[in-house]
Amino acid sequence: MYKDMTIAKVQDFEGEQVRIKGWLYNKRSSGKIQFLQIRDGSGFIQGVMMKKHVSEEIFELCKTLSQESSIEVLGTLQKDDRSTLGFEIFVDEVKLIHLADEDYPISLKEHGTDFLMENRHLWMRTPKQNAILRIRDEINFTIREFFRNEGFILTEPPIITPASCEGTTDLFEIDYFGEKVYLSQTGQLYAEATAMAFNKVYTFGPTFRAEKSKTRKHMNEFWMVEPEMAFVDFEENMKVQENFVEYVVQKVIKTMKRELEVLERDTTALERVKAPFPRITYTDAIKMLQEAGYEIKWGDDFGAPHETYIADRYEKPVFITHFPASMKAFYMQPDPEDSNVILGSDLIAPEGYGEIIGGSERIHDKDLLLEKMEKEGLPTEVYQWYIDLRKYGSVPHSGFGLGLERTVSWVCGIDHIRQSIPFARTLNRVYP
Ligand code: 4AD
Ligand code: MG
Repeated sequence: MYKDMTIAKVQDFEGEQVRIKGWLYNKRSSGKIQFLQIRDGSGFIQGVMMKKHVSEEIFELCKTLSQESSIEVLGTLQKDDRSTLGFEIFVDEVKLIHLADEDYPISLKEHGTDFLMENRHLWMRTPKQNAILRIRDEINFTIREFFRNEGFILTEPPIITPASCEGTTDLFEIDYFGEKVYLSQTGQLYAEATAMAFNKVYTFGPTFRAEKSKTRKHMNEFWMVEPEMAFVDFEENMKVQENFVEYVVQKVIKTMKRELEVLERDTTALERVKAPFPRITYTDAIKMLQEAGYEIKWGDDFGAPHETYIADRYEKPVFITHFPASMKAFYMQPDPEDSNVILGSDLIAPEGYGEIIGGSERIHDKDLLLEKMEKEGLPTEVYQWYIDLRKYGSVPHSGFGLGLERTVSWVCGIDHIRQSIPFARTLNRVYP
């Protein structure tokens, strides 16, 4: 009797007769033996087939199998210390489910990334891409686990919004039965509303930015997790962020060891990601950059080289705090000691991965909010509900947004954000 097995669970089946269903990833043959590299979606395993052990018909069938043909394999699971998995299948029988066309585009030689992105639907079958997307799943789950453990409620914001939520320059406009509306850039403003109903909430979903940037850190559609907390100030907000990032990174480097090995990720820098994280004000960061010879002045935004220079001064992710109010969104609370700067921070990841979190305390005073909105030229009618939050039981509150793809890229140590999501949407790509 053969037992159904998935490759991820090999440890439980040593010495047993097993059946797996999967795809032929690669094969090689040396006359009397064929080595089949089989993947089943949960992992990769080698099947060893001896001519004298199987029927003539099966041995001949396997010779004709093309790459990515789908098959069912029956055999005995044996320990094999030479393979990274530690096991192989001694094959008794192979059943063909579908013979793949011979022109499978992704051969096992090197291809350019553009070609691979064009074939993303197939590329994700290969070991490294598969490992990245498994790690993404684990990060996704761990984020939800953290917030569930901490008593946060998941509240989904709408994706179609009547107004801009985060600056007006990079909005995707859509036609909503003759009315101009937008794809949401952030769930935050809605999270502020649900926080006043549930106290600690988070949103987690796709967000959209019509930015024409081609960097390795920008996408036009990305996933963001956005916690929002009533009665929480700027300092407490940063404490939640550092505990959260520590939790996610430490869990994932433990549970995803095998995938990180496939990616050849050196995890020493990730092991250091433990709270508390260092903090530096924007003003001090500018001074630090000027002293290092960068041409940058107070009021300028950081570019990637600036962020990397700052991050490299520290062993852990670093908070840059108290940005100029003029650089940041209208809802950020000004510092009572200097209203030119805000009570907000960016968290910069190590190893050149840049900003992974943006967060702040929010303005809770109605008049101050109205003043800021007027300055930015924002129409108050479409934001009336948001202003209501400052009319009915307003409280100091804070929150932040972590970009999922930037976090996945950092943890995996990959060089471009487009590999961190199943199907990337970037300036030059909406296919597949
Ligand atoms: O700093 P951002 O724009 O902040 C907000 O949208 C706030 N409303 C969040 C909040 O306080 N609730 O974006 C937050 C994070 C960034 O730090 C980055 O990780 C990610 O979202 N992000 C992007 N990721 C990929 N591509 C882009 N174009 C991104 N823009 C932002
Ligand atoms: Mg930001």
